[in-house]
Amino acid sequence: MRSDRPAPYLSRRTLLAIGGAAGLAACTPDNGESPEQTPAQQSIPAPAPEGEGAPPTAEEPETEQAEEADDDAPASEASWDPDSTYVLVNKRNPLEPADHVPSDLRELDIFQHYEGQQLREEAAGALEELFAAAAEEGHALAVTTAYRDYEHQFALYDSWYWEHGQEWTDARSARPGYSEHQTGLAVDILTEDSHPDELLESFGGMPEGEWVAEHAHEFGFIIRYPEGAEDITGYQYEPWHLRYLGVEAAAEVFEEGVTLEEHWDQPPAPDYEYDYLEDPAVDR
Ligand code: DAL
Ligand code: ZN
Repeated sequence: MRSDRPAPYLSRRTLLAIGGAAGLAACTPDNGESPEQTPAQQSIPAPAPEGEGAPPTAEEPETEQAEEADDDAPASEASWDPDSTYVLVNKRNPLEPADHVPSDLRELDIFQHYEGQQLREEAAGALEELFAAAAEEGHALAVTTAYRDYEHQFALYDSWYWEHGQEWTDARSARPGYSEHQTGLAVDILTEDSHPDELLESFGGMPEGEWVAEHAHEFGFIIRYPEGAEDITGYQYEPWHLRYLGVEAAAEVFEEGVTLEEHWDQPPAPDYEYDYLEDPAVDR
């Protein structure tokens, strides 16, 4: 994590977890990275060989408080590692490096309005399962765009900027280096018969969109930009934009009915620090 990262907001839940012995569980890294040893772990002596030393004692029972804190520990926490499933990307948190390219992208094997769309391996498999489950319920979904690299995002944002201006564009498109699409964990979906060049707010009210909103978390996805959360996410309602988090974390966000910023106790990101033409993170 870079050193000038703003301190995270600490919610009551976080403070509770930190206060409890099991609060360390909240720091479990994702993606199989090996956790750092805590001072407590380091001081645990190696067990004596069998037949030597003190007689075995019953394990200390966990206190009720510790058990409660354990139950409260979230499945994920925000990361600034661009390869993490839990990477936080928003108007206050560009990808670092800004031109990051995921290493495990693969093409999707589902209906696409524009062929050749890619996601990271785990998210790709999950989206294919989501599409299959939707089809079983009679909902024909389609991918519009999935992974977009820095140059692609630049072309999108920049063309809208010159046509519609900064305010209009910032409400709808991320600047290059600031888009979840560049993580390989985000995808825009619509119905098969929707016009692919139009991302329709009405998707949320269609049977397909309603099914997605209700079931996406079962496959590890969340609706990243919910209705009425512009002041937190920085974007208008996007019922079509799914972000992969994995089943456990996505289910928690769904159950809580909050934005990802709130779930991870991170500050709202309603706007950028700089005007587009002065933004040092944008390489034009
Ligand atoms: N439409 C979303 C915010 C993006 O451009 O990444
Ligand atoms: Zn999107």
